[in-house]
Amino acid sequence: MKKEILVSALLVASMSLSAQKSAVIRIHTEQGKQIIPKEIYGQFAEHLGSCIYGGLWVGENSDIPNIKGYRKDVFDALKELKVPVLRWPGGCFADEYHWMDGIGPKESRPKMVNNNWGGVVEDNSFGTNEFLNLCEMLGCEPYISGNVGSGSVEELAKWVEYMTSEGDSPMANLRRKNGRDKAWKVKFLGVGNESWGCGGSMTAEYYSDLYRRYSTYCRNYDDNRLFKIASGASDYDYNWTDVLMKDVGARMNGLSLHYYTVTGWNGSKGSATNFSKDDYYWAMGKCLEIENVIKKHIDIMDKYDPKKNVGLMVDEWGTWWDQEPGAKTALYQQNSMRDAFVASLTLDVFNRHTDRIKMTNIAQVVNVLQSMILTKGKEMVLTPTYYVFDMYKVHQDATYLPIDLICDKVSVRDNRTVPLMSATASKDKEGIIHISLSNVETDESQEVSIEIPGVTVNQVSGQILTSKNITDYNSFEHPNVVVLKDFKDAKVSKGVLKVELPAKSIVTLTLK
Ligand code: AHR
Repeated sequence: MKKEILVSALLVASMSLSAQKSAVIRIHTEQGKQIIPKEIYGQFAEHLGSCIYGGLWVGENSDIPNIKGYRKDVFDALKELKVPVLRWPGGCFADEYHWMDGIGPKESRPKMVNNNWGGVVEDNSFGTNEFLNLCEMLGCEPYISGNVGSGSVEELAKWVEYMTSEGDSPMANLRRKNGRDKAWKVKFLGVGNESWGCGGSMTAEYYSDLYRRYSTYCRNYDDNRLFKIASGASDYDYNWTDVLMKDVGARMNGLSLHYYTVTGWNGSKGSATNFSKDDYYWAMGKCLEIENVIKKHIDIMDKYDPKKNVGLMVDEWGTWWDQEPGAKTALYQQNSMRDAFVASLTLDVFNRHTDRIKMTNIAQVVNVLQSMILTKGKEMVLTPTYYVFDMYKVHQDATYLPIDLICDKVSVRDNRTVPLMSATASKDKEGIIHISLSNVETDESQEVSIEIPGVTVNQVSGQILTSKNITDYNSFEHPNVVVLKDFKDAKVSKGVLKVELPAKSIVTLTLK
C-alpha cells in the first residue's frame, strides 16, 4: 500500500516537472461495486422536426430503404449502438398527444397540429404500435411519456391497459383488433413532462396532487411492472425536487431532471459549427456544471429518501445550438467535436453517480438537438456524438471502477474551471477493464499515466475520436471527417500504463 502511494507521488512529481500537459489516474479496482445501469446510455425520440418522420420512420411505401416503414440505415446504426431505452413521444409534444389518435388503420387516424413545434400537421401515422414494435426490434426498453397536461386520468390508464394487459379487457381487445395479440412489456412510464412549463404550467404542489391521481390508475397488468417517473425539475429548480420528494417521494420510482448545455433560452444560442475556442471552453464549463446541479438535487432526494429508492432520471440533456441555417425542420442542428466532448464529459459525470442516477436520455436520437444521426432525403450521416456513444457502450451494465484523477485545469467564462482530462473506468462481466479518456485541451497532447494496483495488463487496444479542428463535423458532402480510428499510443512501462492522448481526442481503451 505504501509503495503504491509512493509510485503515485513520483508520478505526480514527474507530471509537475514536465512542460507538456499531463494527467495521472489511479483506478481502484478493489472498490468497484456499483453497476453502471445500461439505461444511463438512453435516447429520446419526440414528434419534433424530423426526428420521427424522415428520421426513424419513412413508411412502407417510401423509396428510402425501410424495414416495415422504419428507415433501414437509421435502424441499423441504432442497433449497432445497443440503445438500451428510448423515450417517446415527447417532450412537450407528450402533453398534447392523445394516443388513441395514433392507433388503428392509418387512413382513419385523425390529424392534429403540433403546436409546440412549428404548428406542423401531425398525421399520427407513427403511433403506439409503431413505437413499441420498433423498441422490440431494437431490443430496447420503451419509456412512455404520458399526457398529464391536456389529457385525462382515464386516457392514461387506458393507454397502460392497451399496451400491457394480457386479459380479456376492452383495451387489450382493441390492441388485438389492431393486429397485436401479445401485450408489450412497458417498464418506464413518465407521468407528464416539464409540468412546470409546456406540460401544464403547474406549481410543484399542484403537480404533486395530480401525480397522486394519475399514478394511482396506472396499473400493473399481469406480470408487467411499471417504473413510474414523476415529471421533475429543470436545471437549478431545487424547490421542485424538494416539494415532490416531500409530497409524493414514496409513490414514485423515479424523478426526472432536465439540463441542457445552452447559452440561454432567449435570442441566439450560438452556431453549432462556427465558434471560437473561448466558446468551446465555455461549453465544457457549462456542461460540467451538471455535476453540481445533480449533487444538489441528490442531496435533497437523500434528505427524504436516504435508502435511495427513487432514481434520478436525467431524461433530457445535451447541447442546444441555433437551428442550422436553411434547415427545414425544427431544432435541427449540426454536431461537431465540441458536441462529442459534451457527450463524453457528461457521461463521465453520470457514471460517477449511478447510486442515484438510474437513467438518462440524450436529446434527441435523430435530426433534433444533439443527435446521433442526421438524415437528408435518402442520405444519412453519423455524428461525432454517435461515435462517443459507440465507444462508451462497453460501460453499459459494467462495474464502475472509482478513479483518482489529477490533471491541469483552465479557467473559463462565467467563473468556471474546466479540468483538461476526464475519464470513466469499468469492468465488464468477462472481467475486461475499459477506460474512456477525454483530452479536452484543443492544442496540446497530454501524457496520461494510469496506475491499476493489483492488475497486470498484458494487452491494450483502443479506439480514438479526434479531428484537425474542434469545429469539425460530418456533413452529407463529407460524412467521414470525424470517425473512429484504431488507437495505438498506449503502452505498459514498469507496471504503469502510459497513454499519449492527442489534442482534442476521446479514446476508449480495452485492457486484457
Ligand atoms: O427536447 C426538446 C424540448 O426540450 C422538449 O420537448 C422539452 O421537454 C424540453 O423543453
